[in-house]
Amino acid sequence: MNQKIKEVVNTEDTKLSGNKIIELRNNNEQYFIMNGKRKSYHILTYGCQMNEHDSEKIGGMLTSIGYEETDDEKNADLVIFNTCLIRENAELRVFGKLGEVKGLKRNRPDMVVAVCGCMMQKEEIRQKLLKSFSFVDIIFGTNTIQELPGLIYDVEVNSKKSVDIIDNTELIYENMPKIRKFKYKALVNITYGCNNFCTYCVVPYVRGREKSRLPQEIINEVKKLAEDGCKEITLLGQNVNSYGSNLDDKCTFSDLLYELNKVDGIERIRFMTSHPKDLTDDLIKAIKECDKVCNHVHLPVQAGSNEVLKRMNRHYTREHYLNIVEKLKKEVPNIAITTDIIVGFPGETEEDFLETIDMVKEVQYDSAFTFLYSVREGTKAAEMEDQVPDEIKHERFEKLLNVLYPIVLERNRSCIGNTYPVLVESVSKTSENYLTGRTEHFRLVHFKGSEDLIGEIVNVKITSVKTFHMEGKLQQK
Ligand code: 5AD
Ligand code: SF4
Repeated sequence: MNQKIKEVVNTEDTKLSGNKIIELRNNNEQYFIMNGKRKSYHILTYGCQMNEHDSEKIGGMLTSIGYEETDDEKNADLVIFNTCLIRENAELRVFGKLGEVKGLKRNRPDMVVAVCGCMMQKEEIRQKLLKSFSFVDIIFGTNTIQELPGLIYDVEVNSKKSVDIIDNTELIYENMPKIRKFKYKALVNITYGCNNFCTYCVVPYVRGREKSRLPQEIINEVKKLAEDGCKEITLLGQNVNSYGSNLDDKCTFSDLLYELNKVDGIERIRFMTSHPKDLTDDLIKAIKECDKVCNHVHLPVQAGSNEVLKRMNRHYTREHYLNIVEKLKKEVPNIAITTDIIVGFPGETEEDFLETIDMVKEVQYDSAFTFLYSVREGTKAAEMEDQVPDEIKHERFEKLLNVLYPIVLERNRSCIGNTYPVLVESVSKTSENYLTGRTEHFRLVHFKGSEDLIGEIVNVKITSVKTFHMEGKLQQK
């Protein structure tokens, strides 16, 4: 299949004509001169790292037309909701917060409210928004971020509500400006969309088919990040393991890792998410051989029973999964394995659930995200009979955590007394004398240290652990 690439070299290259963009930028400069401050924006981001990264692109687009970021929505001139549809909870949170913002807009009618992201890819939800949340000024989709300046122009200059969703999700937009949240660690898209159609999941419907970025585009982006002082990259894709499947010139995910491992200045390479059905021996070899690739694999198991895995359309068995885990542990000593687990998938029996528990015990996960199955309209699982009653879902969820957490704690305990390189991320939220960072295994570490270490990789000796973090002592170099 031919790769369709659309270059967005700058914000002029959108549907909006250059003149209008210049007008918008000039208006914003005028505003700055008159008010002594720039128009401000605040983005509320829901959901996964893919959305986090899209928000960095939205920030980049807005900065390029003269906006500046502000810490909360209360005083913002432009509030953007970047929404998630993966579970009902995420959806409800967005509607709740929209209600709050409606109140703000009543007092400040000039405030512009925009909603984008996965929820907006669904026609029914867009209709609901247009009907019941009519104060929303702009609606755009996951593939129309580059059109945002034009949409703002329509609201601000033409005083009209604007909606722009492109159903065609085949284009890849390169070189979008980005306001990155951190200087020393960065998210980098490698694929967009998903081809897997797990029966519970809405992603393939809203984000379209899988498309890989060209390796050279990714390598160039990573080189540029390294030049700007970035030390850690996280490669993003719904299934990074199938990277390259639509490229004309063959390049697998492991090929890409070997290339990125050569980039000077980058010290850590992470990636997520790995689908177990596509995790190859080549990838295990790449993790082992590439010194910068972290010894951590996020490998969502979802369920432990073959019956459930089949109905989930996951295309692997528990035996296959355990076989990969065994290989990973053998080839990459000390590898951390983390996972996603869904409890209460339609038709899950008590025996099926016990197989999930058994899986957790057998793999000894370093950490796991656990979810109650959430019915997503339009997916196959939503139509399945034998939906598990909420009460049983919650009971099983609790039982799962009672098994999982002691295992995670035990895995953390095995770190006590060892010294690990930690990339310092920020001052700790709980104490200003403490810093927070992560080991290559993605374990969160708190330790005493001064702010100037943020962005450095330092050695920390682990002194005590909890389930969700560890504490340690900074070691001299
Ligand atoms: N219900 C519960 N969890 C879900 N996930 C995806 N769809 C659903 C759903 N309908 C979980 C999966 C996936 C993670 C990102 O979200 O575990 O790996
Ligand atoms: Fe959803 Fe499955 Fe694709 Fe992951 S691999 S995004 S769970 S359909």
